Amino acid sequence: MSATHSPVSAFLRTVTVMTETAFAVHQTARPHGFPTPRHFAFVESPMPEPGPGTALVENLFWSVDPYHREMMDADFALNAPLEGRTLGRVVDSRHPALREGEIVFHRQGWRTHTVVTPDEARAVPHFDGVPLSAHLSILGGTGLTAYVGLTRIAEFREGQDIFVSAAAGGVGTATGRLARLMGAGRLVGSAGRPEKAAYLTEHVGYDEVFDYHSGPAAELLAQAAPDGIDLYMDNVGGEHLEAAISSLREYGRIVRIGTISQYNSTGTPYALRNLPDIVEKSLRIDGFLVRNYLDVQEELYEFVVPHLQSGRIMLDETVVDGFDGIVDGFLGMLRGENRGKIIVRAAGADV
Ligand SMILES: NC(=O)c1ccc[n+]([C@@H]2O[C@H](COP(=O)([O-])OP(=O)(O)OC[C@H]3O[C@@H](n4cnc5c(N)ncnc54)[C@H](OP(=O)(O)O)[C@@H]3O)[C@@H](O)[C@H]2O)c1
Repeated sequence: MSATHSPVSAFLRTVTVMTETAFAVHQTARPHGFPTPRHFAFVESPMPEPGPGTALVENLFWSVDPYHREMMDADFALNAPLEGRTLGRVVDSRHPALREGEIVFHRQGWRTHTVVTPDEARAVPHFDGVPLSAHLSILGGTGLTAYVGLTRIAEFREGQDIFVSAAAGGVGTATGRLARLMGAGRLVGSAGRPEKAAYLTEHVGYDEVFDYHSGPAAELLAQAAPDGIDLYMDNVGGEHLEAAISSLREYGRIVRIGTISQYNSTGTPYALRNLPDIVEKSLRIDGFLVRNYLDVQEELYEFVVPHLQSGRIMLDETVVDGFDGIVDGFLGMLRGENRGKIIVRAAGADV
């Protein structure tokens, strides 16, 4: 299959008139520090054709995630379509298990169309009143990360006081919503902008949220949680982790979810200065990868869907319109421009 590399501006001019053409985003160079649009290219190719046992999917919603930044350093092949969690509609099927018109979840993201086998795609359930995008936010890997973190890793119990970093992001908002439903005690968060902090206390159920740019994290956390915390849900690492170790009570727990403070860093990783506290307070630290807990997916639906349908919880999503916005949406998420889960939606998606 021949492919043409286009800069973003050329892509914007051509995408609306090319119906027999597919587009994919490739990584073209390894970043040192923060990536820029120059590390990506929109690549045009003829529409892929499904062979026997496969189906052509037109993608409708894409998830762009911090782990993509981690993969850019070495794991993503250069000049090849990137991968990512995606929802699309089956438009041409050569397999009875993939029905035309059906909405499927698959991992061949960052492209407008793809060919999948039944093993590579699963139909997403329809829940009345629940927007499709929820399958990439609170009902998808993001919500599952928060749910697994609380129920399987932290073994959270009602009344416990929690601190969540990157609280205004996808995992952070889901963690806040779920922890509130599960009966959390004091819920403290950190976020990078005052307006995000205000959103979390006004809408998500956090009791107090500090802007981590306004001072040392240890001081800000000590002020926000003067009596300490039982549990830290760590999306950030570094200085936030050190602050949480200081604020945790005896037998407290740390759930290591991610280390976003370091994904774009070119310097020496932050050195924790209070490791002895882990021994002296009998703290426990556990990390996990959500991909090892996919069997919890049905339980997540059972827990969350009724609350979405009743309106007790709302979706926290930042939606970028148009596939041409996928690179900017990804880079904006790394800079903290999202509130809730960042999702890219195909222009004119009628779902
Ligand atoms: N273990 C797993 O299986 C798993 C699964 C999914 C996600 N994760 C991890 O969970 C974390 C959150 O992921 P997400 O998908 O929900 O992304 P997200 O929180 O929606 O987006 C990333 C956020 O990180 C914050 N951020 C960026 N640079 C930062 C820095 N230097 N210090 C502190 N915060 C910074 C930004 O918000 P601010 O405005 O607050 O800075 C940004 O909005 C990431 O670390 C990710 O790798 C892990």
